[in-house]
Amino acid sequence: MDITTTPAWSAALKCADLISQTTLKDLFARNPARAETLSVELLVGEDILLVDFSKQNVDEDAVQCLIAVAEQAGIEQKRNDMFEGVIVNGTEQQPALHTALRRTADSAVNVDGVDVMSEILRVRAQVNEFAESVRAGRITGATGKKFQSVINVGIGGSDLGPTLVHEALTSVSAPAVKTHFVSNIDPTEVRSALRECNPETTLVVLCSKSFSTAETLSNGRIIAQWISDAVGAENVSKHFSVVSVFPEKVVSAGLLADYAFPMWSWVGGRYSISSAVNLVNVIAFGSNAYNNLLSGMRSMDEHFMTAPLHSNAPVLMGMLNVWNRSILGRETRAMVAYSTALKSFASYVQQLEMESNGKRVTTDGDLVSIPTSPIVWGGVGTNAQHAYMQLLHQGTSVVPADFIGVAATPTHDGAAHDALVANLFAQTQALAFGNVTDSHRTLPGNRPSTTLMLSALSPRTLGALIALYEHSVFVQGCVFGINSFDQWGVELGKKLASEVSAQISAPSQSGGADASTAKLVQWYKTHRSNT
Ligand code: F6P
Repeated sequence: MDITTTPAWSAALKCADLISQTTLKDLFARNPARAETLSVELLVGEDILLVDFSKQNVDEDAVQCLIAVAEQAGIEQKRNDMFEGVIVNGTEQQPALHTALRRTADSAVNVDGVDVMSEILRVRAQVNEFAESVRAGRITGATGKKFQSVINVGIGGSDLGPTLVHEALTSVSAPAVKTHFVSNIDPTEVRSALRECNPETTLVVLCSKSFSTAETLSNGRIIAQWISDAVGAENVSKHFSVVSVFPEKVVSAGLLADYAFPMWSWVGGRYSISSAVNLVNVIAFGSNAYNNLLSGMRSMDEHFMTAPLHSNAPVLMGMLNVWNRSILGRETRAMVAYSTALKSFASYVQQLEMESNGKRVTTDGDLVSIPTSPIVWGGVGTNAQHAYMQLLHQGTSVVPADFIGVAATPTHDGAAHDALVANLFAQTQALAFGNVTDSHRTLPGNRPSTTLMLSALSPRTLGALIALYEHSVFVQGCVFGINSFDQWGVELGKKLASEVSAQISAPSQSGGADASTAKLVQWYKTHRSNT
C-alpha cells in the first residue's frame, strides 16, 4: 500500500501546512504543558529513560495525524508479525528475530515450525560460560598463559555494536582485558592493534555473520599468521573464537577455531548486538553486564509491544522522523550524544538507519513515492558545538537533531558534568527559540530536536536506548512500505572491488574497467609500494 494515497496521509499534509504557520515559541506559549504531554518516561530496571519530543515542530493535532498514519500503515500488525517470526524480510525470505535474542524462556518463537528459543538460550549460556572461563583464566592460550588482550575482528554490525557497547561500559567499569577493535581492510589498523598485543596472551573474536566479508577474512588471516609465528600453526585455534552463521566455513578460509558460536540467518548484522556478536564485551565486562544489556532491550521491546501508540516511544520517534523527512523534507538528521562514553552512538545509528531504510523500492517492487531514510550523522557534545553546530543554528538547511544525555556521572566531577548537561539543554533551547539581534547574530530558532536523557548509563539503559532506535527504524520502514532488513545496495561495490583487485594483480593492463577506473588502476600500479 502506498501510504500517500490514504486519507490519513492527506490529513498529515494539512497538519504540516498549519504547523508551518506557527513556531515552537508559539506552540509553547499556547500550551505550557507540552513538555509533559509530548514526552515519554520509561522505567528500565532501577533507571529511567526520558524522551522529550516537545521541541519538535508538532502540536497535539499533528501527533494525532501521525498516529493515524501509523495505524494506516499497519504498524501494530507488522510489529506483532516481526516479534512472532513471520517472514518480514521478503527478498531474503527471512523473519527478523533480533527481539527473540533477548527474550526469556517464557514463550516459544517459531521459525519454520521449530521453536528457536531453546537454541538461543543454549548459545547465550555458551557465551556466558566461555567468557567467564576466559575471565577466570580457566581457558588460556596455547602456552597456558591467561588471556590479557581480546581483538574483535568484524565490520559493520559485527563491529559498530560491540564498539559502542565497549566504549559505553568502559565508562562505568574497568574491562577485565585490554580490548581492540579491528574492522577496516586497511592493514595499518590491524598492525597497530597487534603492536599492542602479545600473541601468547591474545584471544581473537572473529565476528562475521556471513563469514565471507573480505575485510574480516583478510584481518583474520593476518592475525592468524601472527599467532602462528609465535606459538605454531597447530596452536592458532586455541586463540581463535568465531561468531558466524557458518562456523564450518572457518577452515576453508584458512583459519582455525576451537571456539565457535552460532548466530542465525534471521538476525540482521546491524541488529545483532544481542547475539554472540557481543562476546568481546561479555569477556570484558562479565555475563551480568550482558544479561542486563539484554534485560534493558527487553524492557523497550515490551514497551513497544504494549504501550498505546500515542505514548509509545519508538512509535512517536519513528513517526516524528517520518514527519521531518517525508513530510517536511528535512534531508538529514544529526545525533549528538553529550557523553564521551556514547561517542560512537551516531555511527551505530547511522548504519542501523541508513542500511535499513536507505531504499527506493517498496516491498511490492514499486518505486517509493516519498523520501525514505534521512542521512544520519553526528558525534559528541560539547565538541559538536565547536565544529558543526553553527550550521544547525544559522545554516540554510533545517537539521532535526537528537540530543542524548546522562544524568549521573561515574566521576566525582559533578560541576564539570553539570556544565556538560547544561550545554546540551542550552543547544536545544537555542535551536528551538533562537534570538533576534542584528542580521549576522540572529538565530532564527524554530529548529526541531528530541532530547533523550538516561538517569544513568548502565548496561540496562544502553540496551533500552539501542532497542528504541531499532524499533523507531522499523516504524519508519513500515510507513515507507520498504523492507528494512535487506541491504542489496552494498553488493555491487563488493563485486566491483573483487574485479578491480584482479585488475590490480594482473601483470599487464587488463580490460573490463571504464576509462576513469582503468586510468586509476594504472596510476596506482605505477605508484604503489610496500615494505
Ligand atoms: O556489507 C554490509 C554488511 O553485510 C552489513 O550488513 C554487515 O553488518 C556487515 O556487512 C558485516 O557482515 P558480516 O557480519 O557478514 O561479516
